[in-house]
Amino acid sequence: GFLAGLYTNAPVEGEASAAAATPVTILFGSQTGTAETLSKKLAKQLKATNCEPTIRDMSELSPEDLKEIQHLLLITSTYGEGEPPDNAQALHAALMAEGAPQLKDLKYSVFGLGDSSYADFCQCSKEFDQRLEALGAQRVAPMLEADGDPDDAFAEWLSGVQAVLGEASNAVDSAVVEEPETDEPQYTKKNPFAAKLLKTENLNKLGSSKATHHIEISLEGSGIEYEVGDALGVFPENNVKLVDEIIEAAGFTPDELAPVPQGPDQQLFEALRFHYDVSVLTIPFLMACARLSQHAELKAIAADEAKSKAYIAGRGLVDPIVDFEVKFPTTEYLVAPLKALNARLYSISSSPRAHPGEVHLTVGKVSYDSHGRKRLGVCSSYLSDHKCDRPVKVYMHSNKAFRLTEDNDAPAIMIGPGTGIAPFRAFLEEREVRGAQGKNWLLFGDQHQATDFLYEDQITAWMKSGLLTRFDTAFSRDQAEKVYVQNRIVEHAEEFYAWLEEGGYIYICGDASRMAKDVDAAIHQAVELAGGKSEAEAKAYVEALKKSKRYLRDVY
Ligand code: 2AM
Repeated sequence: GFLAGLYTNAPVEGEASAAAATPVTILFGSQTGTAETLSKKLAKQLKATNCEPTIRDMSELSPEDLKEIQHLLLITSTYGEGEPPDNAQALHAALMAEGAPQLKDLKYSVFGLGDSSYADFCQCSKEFDQRLEALGAQRVAPMLEADGDPDDAFAEWLSGVQAVLGEASNAVDSAVVEEPETDEPQYTKKNPFAAKLLKTENLNKLGSSKATHHIEISLEGSGIEYEVGDALGVFPENNVKLVDEIIEAAGFTPDELAPVPQGPDQQLFEALRFHYDVSVLTIPFLMACARLSQHAELKAIAADEAKSKAYIAGRGLVDPIVDFEVKFPTTEYLVAPLKALNARLYSISSSPRAHPGEVHLTVGKVSYDSHGRKRLGVCSSYLSDHKCDRPVKVYMHSNKAFRLTEDNDAPAIMIGPGTGIAPFRAFLEEREVRGAQGKNWLLFGDQHQATDFLYEDQITAWMKSGLLTRFDTAFSRDQAEKVYVQNRIVEHAEEFYAWLEEGGYIYICGDASRMAKDVDAAIHQAVELAGGKSEAEAKAYVEALKKSKRYLRDVY
């Protein structure tokens, strides 16, 4: 009645005032879950201003649906060679197509997640941003792209978005984004757990060209929990010899003070070992060297884009300093153009129920010679060569888009060549502990059976016990012609298709740029062949699998 009418405009507790709230759709394209997590943070922030956010998975929307939306905030990562994440593919393709609808009433802003060490940095977010504009939509806040760790760029984008969408007076300080929620885990990327390394073991035998390490880490006392399919974030430490060489070549001593990204100055040795990426040579660092150097050759390289790109290819940070004897006036000059040393994500290769209190990784050690130097992958060599004498800083990265089905009777097809086997060792352990009766088919490939058959004993035991219904290998270099996992899919097209018809799930893990693409083509081919379908019908069939989350990938 009377009193109630007085209060209709009052905000309901815990919600923004209903009357003037702006409806905002947050649309995410996510492969590893980062964009999804950011969407939730964004929703929380917008609720605190004057908005009514709704979070939508990109796979749920068509371009037509976008016509119904007034305010759109689109967050997406980019995968492989500039491709959209799996859940964004259908919407991306439909928007790019010629018949895409005009979106004159749509106001939008895009946030991209990427890594500038890839050539097609944030390609997917760029394409969405440009295409929405071309379809008549109005960009209300500029697109921002995060290079690696998204937190800073996200805070900046958020304040831009809030300035247009929310009421500026209500805008919450962006620092709130970082505040832990009560239901959030204690150990996060910002506050990693110092874990004990229990074991590192090279799974490749003598004579292999690879060094794939099985790594066991204790989570005891951390309270960290995980599901199979999740990834572990690991903070690496730089190689001590490399750090020493850079310090000396740049004209410093290890104990001089240097700024670090957060907190007070530290000794240069510590700063370079723990806080900065001292491996990857970037154009900005090369430019900084050229400004400080009198060397004509270096100046000529830096003045020419093509020459700069050719120089940094296959070289590291140390090279120009040594090659051109670049001396830095102060430590600030050295560290200012450096990128922060970021955590790396590894697909977990253990089931928490099979190994309580532990987490296992399967890490391919990156090591090669180039321009007269041995080059080492930062985190893979850190983990592989670890003496188990110091803790490793880790955090859990939930990978919600890559989950083993809870249907214990459903068939599971797991395709994981090389280190791509990691999550499937976890899936199989998990299905074993669950007593799941569903069929399991593992497709594994590597160079040579004699030296590169990862987890051979465990796999052999699973074949004996019947946990593995089918196991196909593709040892690529054991015969004259290369054989890959995708060849096995086509060879066994009938059975592959039959498993899908029985409600099977496809899981793929490993190399995104070549393997996952070729496997995808092979799956289409198998569906065409065995299902008697046209190309278009096979495409629709696979599309339906993706949509029903029965085609899941963990690719990198
Ligand atoms: P190769 O190195 O002999 O070419 C794990 O690294 C396995 O994946 C290796 O046997 C490797 O073969 C193989 N591989 C390389 N390119 C691939 C591709 N495009 N598709 C599937 N497997 C591939």
